[in-house]
Amino acid sequence: WVLMVTARTPTNIAVIKYWGKRDETLILPINDSISVTLDPSHLCTTTTVSVSPTFDHDRMWLNGKEISLQGGRFQSCLREIRARAQDVEDKKKGIKIKKEDWQKLHLHIASYNNFPTAAGLASSAAGLACLVFSLAKLMNLKEDNSQLSAIARQGSGSACRSLYGGFVKWDMGKEDNGSDSLAVQLADEKHWDELVIIIAVVSARQKETSSTSGMRDTVVTSALIEHRAKEVVPKRIVQMEDAIQKRDFPSFARLAYRDSNQFHAVCLDTYPPIFYMNDTSHRIISCVEKWNRAEETPQVAYTFDAGPNAVMIARDRKTAALLLQRLLYNFPPQSDTDLDSYIIGDKSI
Ligand code: DP6
Repeated sequence: WVLMVTARTPTNIAVIKYWGKRDETLILPINDSISVTLDPSHLCTTTTVSVSPTFDHDRMWLNGKEISLQGGRFQSCLREIRARAQDVEDKKKGIKIKKEDWQKLHLHIASYNNFPTAAGLASSAAGLACLVFSLAKLMNLKEDNSQLSAIARQGSGSACRSLYGGFVKWDMGKEDNGSDSLAVQLADEKHWDELVIIIAVVSARQKETSSTSGMRDTVVTSALIEHRAKEVVPKRIVQMEDAIQKRDFPSFARLAYRDSNQFHAVCLDTYPPIFYMNDTSHRIISCVEKWNRAEETPQVAYTFDAGPNAVMIARDRKTAALLLQRLLYNFPPQSDTDLDSYIIGDKSI
């Protein structure tokens, strides 16, 4: 027999960034962060996990290609899930698995991303969240999404925020064992659904510096990171929560782009310096800034993760249509601007 579960998990984009760890093994951050989870139809990972007594070792395929499962992070997620596994019974198929059997049974995992892997579009976030969620369903875990977020966090920090839709905060927590470093939902996907996300895929190439090694170097070498984590982010978190509750777009936009800009400034302050954005990214920023300054209040927020791709959040559908027009005019895809394509997250949040 084979028992399987399939789950789909959207990616999330941080509007107040996580950058820097206080514990590298448990993945505990040095500041809180806030993200928006995209609509699952646009950027998501689909994972099928299966178990059978005929499987002789754990195996995983990513986008159809087999990958190694030796990584410590993947193994810690699996260990945490297996430790919480419960009895499972499928009467129709006549399958009965006792919780202690999960220690001996092996898994096959197949995962697909419908967007470029590791190009700074938070693929690890969707991937690890989906893996944890589907395994938790397969093994009948009793834990709620917040408790599952603490397991996903140990796979990749940003993954913990993809266990919820809408607006999500990752509480850095205080405990050394990470028990209070969890994701909580600030508002669900219906709360502010006029917002539209447009992602300009400036380059679908794999990034040169992974987030993991980049933030490690930042914590060791940057003189600015402590100021950011201790002085700047705590205030922004309070202001961002307030802006989200009130659907205050101008405050939301200002906080999001200033936080993105500070994150990239900290990358530049790292030694050796890390450049995630390229010329096209900078030109997109100028284009949005110029437009926002020509209006009474900001119309579009922008944010960049660990890569050159621009994530823009328009205040409503009309603004999104105007934004797309401007972008297509100034940055036609497949041209010398090095821009690959656009992804439109209609009613994404
Ligand atoms: C810039 O979650 O990919 O996207 O915890 O080492 O796996 P690890 O890092 P990761 O870092 C994401 C960094 C970011 C900001 C964010 O998503 O908050």
